[in-house]
Amino acid sequence: LECGSLSIIVLGASGDLAKKKTFPALFNLYRQGFLPPSEVHIFGYARSKMTDDDLKDRIRGYLVPSKNATPETSEDVSNFLHLIQYVSGSYDSEEGFQLLDKEISKYEYEQNRQEGISRRLFYLALPPSVYPSVCRMIKLHCMTKSGNVGWTRVVVEKPFGKDLESAEQLSSQIGELFDESQIYRIDHYLGKELVQNMLVMRFANRFFLPLWNRDNIDNVQIVFREDFGTEGRGGYFDQYGIIRDIIQNHLLQVLCLVAMEKPVSLTPEYIRDEKVKVLQAVNPIKDEEVVLGQYEGYRDDPTVPKTSNTPTFATVVLRIHNERWEGVPFILKAGKALNSRKAEIRVQFKDVPGDIFKCKKQGRNEFVMRLQPSESIYMKLTVKQPGLEMSTVQSELDLSYKQRYQEVVIPEAYERLILDTIRGDQQHFVRRDELKAAWEIFTPLLHRIDKGQLKSLPYKPGTRGPVEADALLEKAGYVQTHGYIWVPPSL
Ligand code: BG6
Repeated sequence: LECGSLSIIVLGASGDLAKKKTFPALFNLYRQGFLPPSEVHIFGYARSKMTDDDLKDRIRGYLVPSKNATPETSEDVSNFLHLIQYVSGSYDSEEGFQLLDKEISKYEYEQNRQEGISRRLFYLALPPSVYPSVCRMIKLHCMTKSGNVGWTRVVVEKPFGKDLESAEQLSSQIGELFDESQIYRIDHYLGKELVQNMLVMRFANRFFLPLWNRDNIDNVQIVFREDFGTEGRGGYFDQYGIIRDIIQNHLLQVLCLVAMEKPVSLTPEYIRDEKVKVLQAVNPIKDEEVVLGQYEGYRDDPTVPKTSNTPTFATVVLRIHNERWEGVPFILKAGKALNSRKAEIRVQFKDVPGDIFKCKKQGRNEFVMRLQPSESIYMKLTVKQPGLEMSTVQSELDLSYKQRYQEVVIPEAYERLILDTIRGDQQHFVRRDELKAAWEIFTPLLHRIDKGQLKSLPYKPGTRGPVEADALLEKAGYVQTHGYIWVPPSL
């Protein structure tokens, strides 16, 4: 870290996101020495009237998964909690933010004796409806007092609006107050280990360079599956649906990394320039290339209207109109309450021309990046069946992280992203024009769904989702390999 003081202010400190993600991520950074107590102070801000200890009691239980708790971790927990101070106030009142500023300044003064630099990181663990007022208050009352040597940064998270228009409105409200370099739009999928490996795989390996195009790749699938429903979040979810919750952001970000051209360098702006270009090349989505589903029982949630048509499952085919990808379907699929939990990128290659082994029916080459659980990268390919006969069989080249990197603890996405915000690296954050391009792709479809022009098909919880989605996959050209299943190796 630079010298001076770093204040991390978690707004919405008593909410779900703060408890489950933000504070645990801060705790992990603290444990690894990235938040030295000599420089760092953490403020929680929310409307509820409570004491510092009340806040600490609320978050304590979330910091360490109970299976990992040891006397050592409990000492770390209490040291970490020492860094936290609570300030109560509303999200649109001057008094609240004046008080917050006073507390931060008091701490900075004690810490620095007026010498060091003041750095202030505001983490908005809040619903976007209050982003504009909170940003206004920060701008009015809580900016760093160190001028150009210090900094003030604001971290925000989706939902960034509900469609192109509302997203643009939100962007310009925030954009009037802060420069793009001060705004960190989190998409936590960009903090996942294997998502971050995508550009390395593609651009640091000669293997992939000549193959990564329409001449060799038949189709690409980016899949997110959860084996639980909207439990307790029905009210929020029903306003958004699976396309806004997962596909328009998380899966589309992954698509960018799979499909973009090589950036000039790793400079964040160069990377994001390429992401924007590929998004701009996506064709309008056709209704016949969409299947929506809603699991049975979803509407039993008292916060969900009985007539809701909100999809909890969707398969959407995107087509990228450029030289590299013309004709290659990118199939984005996401669903809740399915038969398994996993997220993966599956690149399926075309058949080998002139098949002398008559092995075409056995299956196609696939390159798979399993994002979670059990991170792994494998290539499904045809090999000679070991033995006296000359026959072929499907197998894989396999890099399973648990096995290959036994000593390594893979960091949580939020941990990495918060560290990036402290370091001022925007590479893994969504730029304003990127967000706009993402909404441009999905807004017409979302409006048709909202008007009821496309219906969600019912599916039973615990299944693969509507069978129509498998039919769409097949129509798009995906060939499933029967009789072959990759099993993550156990240690
Ligand atoms: C969130 C969605 O952004 O991502 C949730 O709002 C979803 O609905 C979650 O469960 C999934 O994240 P992860 O990291 O568990 O795949």
